[in-house]
Amino acid sequence: MREIVERVKARTSIPVYERTIENVLSAIQASSDVWRIVDLSEEPLPLVVAVLEALHELGHIAFDGPNVILTESGKQLVEKYGIGPRRDYTCSHCEGKTVELSAFSDLLEQFKEIVKDRPQPKHDFDQAYVTPETTVARVALMHSRGDLENKEVFVLGDDDLTSVALMLSGLPKRIAVLDIDERLMKFIEKTADELGYSDIEIFTFDLREPLPDYALHKFDTFITDPPETVDAIRAFVGRGIATLKGPGCAGYFGITRRESSLDKWREIQRLLLNEFNVVITDIIRNFNEYVNWGYEEETRAWKLLPVKVKPSYNWYKSYMFRIQTLEGSKGFEERITVGDELYNDEEASTT
Ligand SMILES: [Fe+2]
Repeated sequence: MREIVERVKARTSIPVYERTIENVLSAIQASSDVWRIVDLSEEPLPLVVAVLEALHELGHIAFDGPNVILTESGKQLVEKYGIGPRRDYTCSHCEGKTVELSAFSDLLEQFKEIVKDRPQPKHDFDQAYVTPETTVARVALMHSRGDLENKEVFVLGDDDLTSVALMLSGLPKRIAVLDIDERLMKFIEKTADELGYSDIEIFTFDLREPLPDYALHKFDTFITDPPETVDAIRAFVGRGIATLKGPGCAGYFGITRRESSLDKWREIQRLLLNEFNVVITDIIRNFNEYVNWGYEEETRAWKLLPVKVKPSYNWYKSYMFRIQTLEGSKGFEERITVGDELYNDEEASTT
């Protein structure tokens, strides 16, 4: 095990532990599909690749066409360390989301109809949207926590069209939505017109810029889906918190294991607790499921993977965080000085 860890360390600066190797070996026994191995191991994709390459060098695994399989020596290795296949007991009724969608089945149908001609994801903006079930589950989740009904809700970045599901729910008193992508803002505006919904404000805006005064300290709830660098989370989640009125407000955002190690998660949690002074009330595993975005072959993930095969299912998921503000909580209102590295770090792979 030590030798494998050392070989992985030589390939990547992402922290690696014996547990990392164990997670990957466990996932390989459950599936030969490289995307599923990343999904099940819950390690960042570039780190999984480094582990696979080290295991391959040592003859523990073979690449057989699109498949990753254990060799005889690999089978001996997992037996020696008592590592079995990773099991997936995700609740099949809610798919792990923890919320019941049946009360929102009409909303889901309407939402699916509306988003049929949505703008498609743009690589330039690091876009990838979630399944309609995920968007509607967000409404169910937020409503169940008391964060929607007669509340003022801010959606910061909306390629998922959460604002459309919120309009359909009729729950918020007021919705504000911003995104850098004018195509999305036009689509949401058109949808609001067609629905005859007027309690919505729509802005084309780059979140790298500080929010204008009229957006600050005015809202009860925000939702955002930040890129996964610590700086981006500071900027996006911090700006979200800055839109909130004060103590007792809530924020929602997704953080993945596909592009963030637990070491990075610890940094993110430190940021939330120490800098923003908020409390984490919920972390729901794999709540957000993303539709494969169609530009896989242009991503770093594709370049890195030792076997080139398109994902056959929605492998990319993120955990849903809910935070609540307390006395002394504060957001981030500064200008961002970092450039391209706002979107990319060593653990990123989907841009
Ligand atoms: Fe369930």
